[in-house]
Amino acid sequence: MRKDVRILLVGEPKVGKTSLIMSLVSEEFPEEVPLRAEEITIPADVTPERVPTHIVDYSVIFPLFQANVICIVYAVNNKKSIEKVSFPCPVCLCVAMYRVPLILVGNKSDLVEHSSMETILPIMNQYSEIETCVECSAKNLKNISELFYYAQKAVLHPTGPLYCPEEKE
Ligand code: GTP
Ligand code: MG
Repeated sequence: MRKDVRILLVGEPKVGKTSLIMSLVSEEFPEEVPLRAEEITIPADVTPERVPTHIVDYSVIFPLFQANVICIVYAVNNKKSIEKVSFPCPVCLCVAMYRVPLILVGNKSDLVEHSSMETILPIMNQYSEIETCVECSAKNLKNISELFYYAQKAVLHPTGPLYCPEEKE
C-alpha cells in the first residue's frame, strides 16, 4: 500500500491552477486567489481511495520528481495553453524519466459551448503517459472532485484504461 499521493498542478499562467485547488478545498469558487495555493493535505478518510493526498500548486522551485502524478492544466478557451500541452518541456522529461502519470485538465469549461476533446485526443494518443483527460470548471465546480480522484487513481491503479468522461456520455 502507498502511504500517500502527491499531486502537482502545472500549466500556463492564468489557466486556473490555484482556483481549482481553492475550489476543491472550499467547495465554492474563490473570486480572488493568491498567486499560489499553499500545499494542502486531504486526510485519508475523506479521499475515495483512503490515502492521504497532498495537492501542490505549481511553482518553479517545486522539485518535479517528488510528484506522483502531474496534472497539466489548460484553459479550454485558450488555444495557446492547449498547444503548450503537446510540446516537450521539463515536465515531459520528468515524466519520461520517472514514469510519472499525467492527467490533462481542461479548466474553464463554463466559458465555452463545445468540448476541447477533439484537439486533446491526438495529444493523448501521442503520449502513453497520459492516463486520462477531464474537462472541468473551478467556477461552477464541475468535475473538480472527479479530477482529483482521477489523479489519485492514476497513482494507485496505474495503466488503467483510458477514460474520457465526455466521451462516455
Ligand atoms: P498563475 O498562478 O498566475 O499561473 O495562474 P493560475 O493558473 O493559478 O490561475 P488562477 O487560479 O489565478 O486563475 C486565473 C484567472 O482565471 C482568475 O481570474 C480566475 O478567477 C479565473 N478562473 C479560474 N478558473 C476559472 C473557471 O473555471 N472559469 C472561469 N470563468 N474563470 C476561471
Ligand atoms: Mg496560481
